[in-house]
Order: sequence, then C-alpha cells, then structure tokens
Amino acid sequence: MKVLFVKSITVFATILLLAACQTDEAPQPLKPAPDMKVEVGTDPHSFAEYEKVQISHMTLDLDADMSRRTLSGHVVLDLERPEPGFQRLVLDTRDLDIHDVNAIDPDGDFLPVSWHLGKDHGHLGRPLVIVLPQGISQVRIDYSSRPEAFGLQWLDAEQTSSGRPFMFSQSQPHYARTWVPLQDTPAVRYTFDATVRGPRDLMVVMGADGNLFELNATGEYHFHMPEPIPSYLMAIAIGDLEFAEIGPRSGVYAEPQWIGPAAEEFDVLEEMIDIGENLYGPYRWGRYDLLVLPPSFPFGGMENPRLSYVTPTIIAGDGSLLALVAHELAHSWSGNLVTNAAWRDLWLNEGFTVYFEARIMEALYGAEIRDQLAKLAWDGLQDTLAQADPRDRQLVRDLSDRDPEQAFMRVPYDMGRFFLDWLEDRFGRETFDAFLREYFDHFAFESITSEDFRDYAREHLVEAHPGRVSMDEIDEWLYEPGMPEFAIAPESDAFEQVDDWGERWLAGDIELDELPVEDWSVHQWRHFLIGLENKLDAETMMAMDNEFALVEQQNYEILFLWLMRAIEAEYEPGIERLEQFLLEVGRNKFTRPLYASLAESDWGRDWAVEVYERARPGYHPLTRQAAERALGLSEE
Ligand code: BES
Ligand code: ZN
Repeated sequence: MKVLFVKSITVFATILLLAACQTDEAPQPLKPAPDMKVEVGTDPHSFAEYEKVQISHMTLDLDADMSRRTLSGHVVLDLERPEPGFQRLVLDTRDLDIHDVNAIDPDGDFLPVSWHLGKDHGHLGRPLVIVLPQGISQVRIDYSSRPEAFGLQWLDAEQTSSGRPFMFSQSQPHYARTWVPLQDTPAVRYTFDATVRGPRDLMVVMGADGNLFELNATGEYHFHMPEPIPSYLMAIAIGDLEFAEIGPRSGVYAEPQWIGPAAEEFDVLEEMIDIGENLYGPYRWGRYDLLVLPPSFPFGGMENPRLSYVTPTIIAGDGSLLALVAHELAHSWSGNLVTNAAWRDLWLNEGFTVYFEARIMEALYGAEIRDQLAKLAWDGLQDTLAQADPRDRQLVRDLSDRDPEQAFMRVPYDMGRFFLDWLEDRFGRETFDAFLREYFDHFAFESITSEDFRDYAREHLVEAHPGRVSMDEIDEWLYEPGMPEFAIAPESDAFEQVDDWGERWLAGDIELDELPVEDWSVHQWRHFLIGLENKLDAETMMAMDNEFALVEQQNYEILFLWLMRAIEAEYEPGIERLEQFLLEVGRNKFTRPLYASLAESDWGRDWAVEVYERARPGYHPLTRQAAERALGLSEE
C-alpha cells in the first residue's frame, strides 16, 4: 500500500512518537512505552476506552474468499474524540491478522502510526493499541480474518443444501471482533458503509440498507447503515440466496430449496411489523427481511437490524413456531433501538423482547396461545432457577470476570419478561403501554444500563402513578436472586386439560387412542412431552410412535422433546433419528441438551462422542464449544 506522509508536519510536530516514524523508509510499528497500560472501560468485555475516543462511522472494504475462508481488506474508522488530548485508540480484536495501520489526516493523506497488539486474553482477544496523533479523526486498518474466526461460519459446497458454499456471521455477544477490528461493546454505536466482493455466483447480504433482490453479476455489493448500531449487530452472509417478497417492506432470503416454504411460513411478517408499530411506535429501520440460514446456525434467531437471521428449524409448515420471528422483530425496538450498555444489562434487550414478542403473538393468535407460551416459559424458568448458581438467578448480574456468553440463559429472558408482565398488571395495560412507547422514544438509538431504566421507571411509572409499585419491589426484581413472591404465574386451561388426560393415560384409565390429540396445539404437545420426562420406557414409546408417528415429526420443537425422551428410554428408532438430527442440526438449544443427556446416560456417552466427531466439521464454533463442554471433552 502506498503511504503518503503528512504535508503539514507542524500540526503533528508535538507528537514525538509519530515524529519518530517519519523516515523515508517503510515505517515500522514502534514498540509502545512499557508503562502504556490498557485500561478496561466500563464494559468489562471490551478493551475500548470509549469515553475518551469513540467510533462514529465505519467504512468497510472486504474481499471474501470462500475457499481460504477469509475476509480481507480494510476498515476506515471515523472517530469522535471527547478528550482531544487523549492519544490512544484501543480496539478489540480476536484472531485477526493486522497488516497495517494508518491515520488519515484531514487532507485525506495517510500517516503511518505506531501500533501493537496486546497480549491474548482468551475469549476477549487481543487489544489493538494505536497511537492516535492529535487532530486525527480517521484511522485505517488493513487486516484479514482467520479461517477459525469464532464469529463466522464457513460451509463448503457439500455442507449446504444448495450444494454451494455459504458463510454467515454471528457477532453477538462479542464476536464482531473476530471479523472487524472495532470497539466491540454495546455501549458504542456507529453508522457504516461497506463494499464486499464475493464469488460472482453467490449473493452477499448484510444487516444494512442496500441488499439486492437478485445476484449482482460483478460480485461486488454495497451497503449503507444509516442508523447507529452497536457492534454486536454487525452481520454479513454470503451464499446461493434467493429473495421472496412478503410485503411492501418485508421479505425473505434463503437458499433455493427453502425459499418457497419460507415465504409461506413467514407470510404474516408484514402484519407483525404493523402490530409492533401499533404497540410501541414507528419501525425505524426501513425494510425488515429475514435470512434463513443453514441448519448449522447455532441459534433460533438473531435480530440483525433490517435482516434478522433465523434457523430453518422453525419452518414447521403451519406457522406454529413464529414466536421466534415475533421475537427477532421485537428486537427492532427492544435491543436494537434501546440497547443494553453492557452484557450485565442483557435483560433490557431480551426480557423486554420476550414481553413484546408475547404481545405480538397475542395480537396475532389470541390470549390462549399467549398463555400456553407463557406457561412453557414459566415452567422452564422454574427449572433453571432451581438448578442455577445463585449469582445467575437475578436479572442484573455481575459478569465482569466471566465470558459474556454466560449472560444468555433463561433468567434475563423469562424473568425479565415476567417482571414486565407484573408491571403491566400493576399499572394496567394502557398506562404501561404508554410508558413503553415513551421509553422507546426517549432512549431511541442509545445504549443504557439497568440503572438508567430504573431511574426512568421511577419518574415515569412509580412516581407518576403513585401507590401501585414501590421502588423496593422493583429493586427486588432487579437485584435479588430468584422470582419475587409477588410475581404472577401464568395459567393455561389448555395445559391443565393435557395434564388431566396425561394422568389418566399414565394411570392406565384410558388408551393412547383416546387422547384427544387432534385438538392439541404444538405447544400442548410440547407441554405433554415435557411432562413425560423420565416416565417412558422403550415399549411405550414404540406404542406412541405407532399411534402418533412422533419420530417422523416435522416440527423440530416436538421432535427434539421426543428425542430427549428417546435418550432416557434408550428407544432404538429414536436413537436412529437422533443420529441424523445431530449430523444435520447445529442449533444449540437442541444440540446442547441432547449431548448433555447422552453424556449423563449410562449407555450414550461414547456413542455421542463418536457422532459428535462426525458432526463437528459441519458445526458452528459455538455449537462445537457447547457440545464439547456437554460431553466433557473440554473445560467449562
Ligand atoms: N439475541 C438472541 C440470539 C443470541 C443468543 C445471540 C445468545 C447471542 C447469544 C436472539 O434474539 C434470541 O434470543 N434468540 C432465541 C430465540 C428466542 C425466541 C428466545 C434463540 O435463538 O433461541
Ligand atoms: Zn432475543
């Protein structure tokens, strides 16, 4: 790369470190002074000192090499410098090869600067420390990602259903740093532009404006993100993608064989956006599209702005698993618009979103389905609370010395949601909805802490509507372990009926074919199968399969529970289906408990390790990590 030196040296003359670089030879990065300490900012999971200097815009220029499994090119970071005299920029990186760092002066000329990569901090990666001359507000970093980048999954042609390679990112919580050097903290927001070149026969998409509806024959794609986002929402994918329109501002991208079923399954998408707007104010991101990923995607969904990612395992054929779409869409308000400032505040993203998701589901399908989903969540949460480490049983948690990955468990999701259900109950829906609308508006495009929420709620709810809720009660929700006594447990008549039928069947009072399953919703089935934990033997399971063909289920939630029961009962046809399942699906919600249950069983661990070894090449790094922990192949 050609390096231009500053024209006006006087501006920078005071900077000795920089002056030392100004030779005719190619500049060598200077070693930093030994006492140049990297202070950790208020987000313990980022090295960025964002109170002193902050990214405000980013321009990416990347080439994607599908066979070498790398993204390489450069990023230009525009900086705001609230402390102009502070002459250091620290970025987060993990497994990145940094080739060159230059400042760009106000005339647009390159200026070599001193930089170094700090020591390796495991999952936090290595800080990239850049000496930042005064007056500089742009920095360019030339770099490439490595094939093992934790935040990217590269699939070969044989590993996809299209028979073409695929790549997708998963940046949350702190993996954006494995494909872009940046301030990888939800406390910092920036806009971005990107140019990405990929193979001519594959489409590149990003969580941004500018996604095309068909292939661009040049292989070059341009994106623009006009709304400021935190790094964990950076998203890119490349594959053999087709697009199907759903509504005027919504559609779906998928590999060819998924596109038809996906467009049908998600046909309520536009309606969901309208419901979201009616509840909590305008959708502020332009379009909302979904991208169906290969089944190795480690999550159900990821709320990447403008283009949320979803697993194909929610395409059930009957719209029964659309709560997940409602969830990712709801993040367009809770999370993407008003964002948790650090992972300790995750409940602000996920708890609000589960609440909001339930409101969308209620508006679409009625209170009955809402209650069934709430009851499933409540029961699951009780199990989690019973087993969890005490420090993980509360909404606001100290995660400072832990992997933020650990923030993602049921507590911030479901306890957060029941907290909001309780507030709704105490203040009434009308008051609470008005409060939420104001809240989203007030904090739009900001990153906030639990304490910011607390202060806002005190003023706009507790004090504005006295006598309903005390701050002590709110603090109990936020900072005390477990659910408060006064939490409101959801009830579902539909589940009670299932329980009655189930008890009569288990007691031998009725036969299998007398169970009124034709009337059962998918969620009633889920409740039924959860209730049968450790209660079935292989013979009974065979009889149930003869009656209900559960082993052939197309609905992955039901199939997953059936496979859990199959492990307990060592039920052969189930184990055969399980092997296929584990080789195909990498969604952690399913694979983790399946592997954990196999590891605990007296017969299954060696078999599971053997299946895992075969499945591993097709798994995402996150799925590998979770499976290896579940199987005891690696440390927690
Ligand atoms: N933001 C999460 C995805 C995520 C989870 C990223 C953990 C990083 C770590 C997403 O919105 C989510 O919560 N997905 C859930 C679905 C939801 C319906 C509970 C999932 O993937 O299961
Ligand atoms: Zn979520």
